[in-house]
Amino acid sequence: MSESNSSARGSFASNFGFLMAAVGSAVGLGNIWKFPYITGEYGGGAFVLVYLGCITLVGLPLLYAEVIIGRRGGRDILGALRTLTRQSGRLGTAISYLTGMMAVVASFLMLAFYSVVAGWTVYFFVLAVGAIPGVEFGNPDVFDTMSTTASTATICHTVFMLMTIGVVTLGVHSGIEFLCKTLMPVLFAILAAMLVYVGFTAELGQSLAFLFQPDFSKLGSSAVLEALGHAFFTLSLGMGAMVTYGSYLKEEKRVIRDSVAIALLDTAVALLAGAVIFAVVFAKEGLEPSAGPGLLFRTLPALFVEMPGGRFVAAVFFGLVVFAAWSSAISLLEVNVAYAVDEFKLPRWVAAGGIGLCVWGLGVACAIGVTVGEVTLQDGLDDLVSRYLLPIGGLLIAIAAGWFVLPADSLSGFSHLPRSGNALGIAWRFLIRFVTPVLVSVVILWQVGAFDSWLKAEEPPAVREGELADPAVKQ
Ligand code: PHE
Repeated sequence: MSESNSSARGSFASNFGFLMAAVGSAVGLGNIWKFPYITGEYGGGAFVLVYLGCITLVGLPLLYAEVIIGRRGGRDILGALRTLTRQSGRLGTAISYLTGMMAVVASFLMLAFYSVVAGWTVYFFVLAVGAIPGVEFGNPDVFDTMSTTASTATICHTVFMLMTIGVVTLGVHSGIEFLCKTLMPVLFAILAAMLVYVGFTAELGQSLAFLFQPDFSKLGSSAVLEALGHAFFTLSLGMGAMVTYGSYLKEEKRVIRDSVAIALLDTAVALLAGAVIFAVVFAKEGLEPSAGPGLLFRTLPALFVEMPGGRFVAAVFFGLVVFAAWSSAISLLEVNVAYAVDEFKLPRWVAAGGIGLCVWGLGVACAIGVTVGEVTLQDGLDDLVSRYLLPIGGLLIAIAAGWFVLPADSLSGFSHLPRSGNALGIAWRFLIRFVTPVLVSVVILWQVGAFDSWLKAEEPPAVREGELADPAVKQ
């Protein structure tokens, strides 16, 4: 890639900037909202153990694959794959187009409903700060009222989209890198402070026991599949977000180390958020940890107001959720913007504004409760993306990386390592060629219901992937 091309599309100034941006993408509503409630649903420790296994065996190899494809391809997901698979002729081009277009479409659709949910977090932040007169923070009905009032939901979604478009317009270095480098350390500090706070005011011991003492009785095959599906979602895999960020990296020396760091930090945030949330839940006699997806917006506010200084802590907590959602949404928009900038040579601001406007429009349709047949658009999009597009995207990326990209490129992240690097590279290639595709195919088959009769016989139905969008309906 020529220098002029690289300066036109932008790059991260430092490795730390890349790391924070990638962690920002990974740490999102999936960590703070979804991880705690599915862990609650499946009984805690044993689920956490399986989840850690999935992150290591499937998440990490795919994460490395995405970042190295981006770094070596040096372009948006479609362009990067096309460059790296050109020796495979038509088949390589076909898989590049399929994978690239799916990622672009999936991230576009996902941003629309993600922004609506993120808008709710903006509302709760503003409410906790006390800036919405006449609405009582802590009343569990507030959530249903706000999320079903078209004007409120639309305004919140609009504010969030403007925040997202604004940062992406500023560019990779001055927008994304600057924001994430500033926000992510703050997010970690807030979480650590909250842990100390619940240590004094709530039931931290009970919460840690719940998260870390495995009880295998609630763990069935659907818990394993849920854990695998969530590993994708939480590491932002299967949509080109990590490919896109990888393409702004200047060298490959740190890709393997960074991938491990991203997975570790993302897992740490999920566990910390879980520890904080369950400590608060356990502080109230008789409350079940599996309070469902409404945990964040109904249960927690009601519990916070009863705690000392709880209102302030709630404001800080919802501020943290807004941060987390914001840096994830930015990476989703960036997949599309990179595609438009690299493939169609559009100026960044035109791409960010134009695509952002289209996503906003689709999000408004979600926010005002448009339905398609029986389901709301919000739920339908969430199901389509989280249950199907994301794992299929992951499968395609694994196949492309394992079977179509030359080892000279795909293994380049290991080449600077001493002898142990060889063995690691061989292990990675084995995982990405065989293990990841098989496991991800199993998740996809599960999503389409291929194992339903078998699973039904085995255990009662539980939450499945794709229930992020509307806790009001699902709970
Ligand atoms: N990882 C984000 C979360 O946990 C969601 C996400 C998925 C963001 C895919 C970007 C791409 O909420």
